[in-house]
Amino acid sequence: AQSGSLNVTVVGTGYVGLGTAVMLAYLGHSVTGLDIDQEKVDMLSRGELPIYEPGLDRMLIESRERIHWTTDYGSAIPQADVIFICVGTPSNVDGSPNLRYVSQAAQSVAENLNGKTQVIVNKSTVPVGTGDWVTRIIEDHARSYHANRYLVVSNPEFLREGTALFDSLYPDRIVLGSDNQEGIDRMRALYAPLLEQDFEAPAYVPRPAGYVRPELITTALSSAEMIKYAANAFLALKISFANEIAGLCERVGADISEVTRGIGSDQRIGPRFLSAGAGWGGSCFGKDTAALISTGQEYGYTMPILQATIDVNTRQRSLIITKLQGHLHRLKGKRVAVLGMAYKPNTDDLRDAPAHDTIARLNELGATVVAHDPIAMPRARREWTHLRYQEAGSVEDALRGADAVIITTEWEEYCRLDWDRALQGMRQRLVIDTRNILTRRPEGVTLEQIGKRQ
Ligand code: UGA
Repeated sequence: AQSGSLNVTVVGTGYVGLGTAVMLAYLGHSVTGLDIDQEKVDMLSRGELPIYEPGLDRMLIESRERIHWTTDYGSAIPQADVIFICVGTPSNVDGSPNLRYVSQAAQSVAENLNGKTQVIVNKSTVPVGTGDWVTRIIEDHARSYHANRYLVVSNPEFLREGTALFDSLYPDRIVLGSDNQEGIDRMRALYAPLLEQDFEAPAYVPRPAGYVRPELITTALSSAEMIKYAANAFLALKISFANEIAGLCERVGADISEVTRGIGSDQRIGPRFLSAGAGWGGSCFGKDTAALISTGQEYGYTMPILQATIDVNTRQRSLIITKLQGHLHRLKGKRVAVLGMAYKPNTDDLRDAPAHDTIARLNELGATVVAHDPIAMPRARREWTHLRYQEAGSVEDALRGADAVIITTEWEEYCRLDWDRALQGMRQRLVIDTRNILTRRPEGVTLEQIGKRQ
């Protein structure tokens, strides 16, 4: 191994686990990716990714000498200096996170510790206090002579799907939370390449202009856990705020894009995550805002701002169909094209995607749905078997003969489209652009956007 290179085991190969494993191998560490799903491990061992994430396939190939995949805790844990727990934390029906996988992973890790000082890192988004709970699980399951030979650290992940590599290589900050200085020092060594100024990035994930290096923020264990939730909740809040103001813009005749540009240039507010649209989706914002409220409830503490953030988002979702009905009235028998199934561009992830609720509602109302997505169609075929829609191979096919088109994801392909031409084939030229990607209204077209005078 290279100097400074550590043995790292990453438990869980979802977005966070895969991104972490591949990035750490790229940085020169020796990485073992562990998942209990044999099928996933077989795929990864063949060099195939179970998810779509730009650049990740390439980085995996380039780092393949330093990374291997297994289902076996017995071989993956004893040799590791650092063990990341990156397993899923799905929501229970009451919004609280289900920590079954974290508990199972912690137990299996504990049973295989080697008695030397190993760092156990929580990267899964776990409620405040979970670090202490993991420590207790490890104490209970580690063989007794291992007691106190491990260091628990919380290292929350801030990567976004679709830009996972960029976010991992050029983070704004790295947060390390531990009640033990030695744990923090070990983790600092792990991330040392990112903290150095001459860090050489791959050409296919270019360094952004002006980027220097991440800020290293060290905190108490529970603060790091809170930072993760508070960050996601604040981002969701920004989006819901923009959506709420957008609704008022429509009523008074203002334009939300102009308004957010005007407020975002105030450095205290910042321009990012203020795009009004179909409301936030994906696997994180919904889960994390609900989990924070549920933690509050445990302590008898209400969180009205977060509740409103969620309520505004729910209302925003239903706006899509309301706008459509405003023009078509009865949807029964109408042909509606839906462009974009993924919850956002550059991913095939369908979790909590606005397109899902939209198609489900169109099904209920008796419309015929024709759907298109540049990447996510195969996944939708597997996961959305309860929805009825025809698949279109191209945008033009989707639009042919349609009474309306709803743009639900701002894929680059849609942003660049020659809309004047594409819309020619429609029966009625009605566009519900929920992502505000059209920069002008094409001739003879009825255009509905979010937060704009129609
Ligand atoms: C989010 C956070 O941005 C990451 O920092 C965090 O690490 C991640 O959750 C996580 O907890 O794992 P992600 O859900 O992958 O990342 O995607 P985002 O880019 O944040 O988008 C979330 C949703 O917000 C999407 O539906 C997107 O369309 C929507 N959005 C985003 C808006 O409606 N407007 C905006 O201005 C930005």
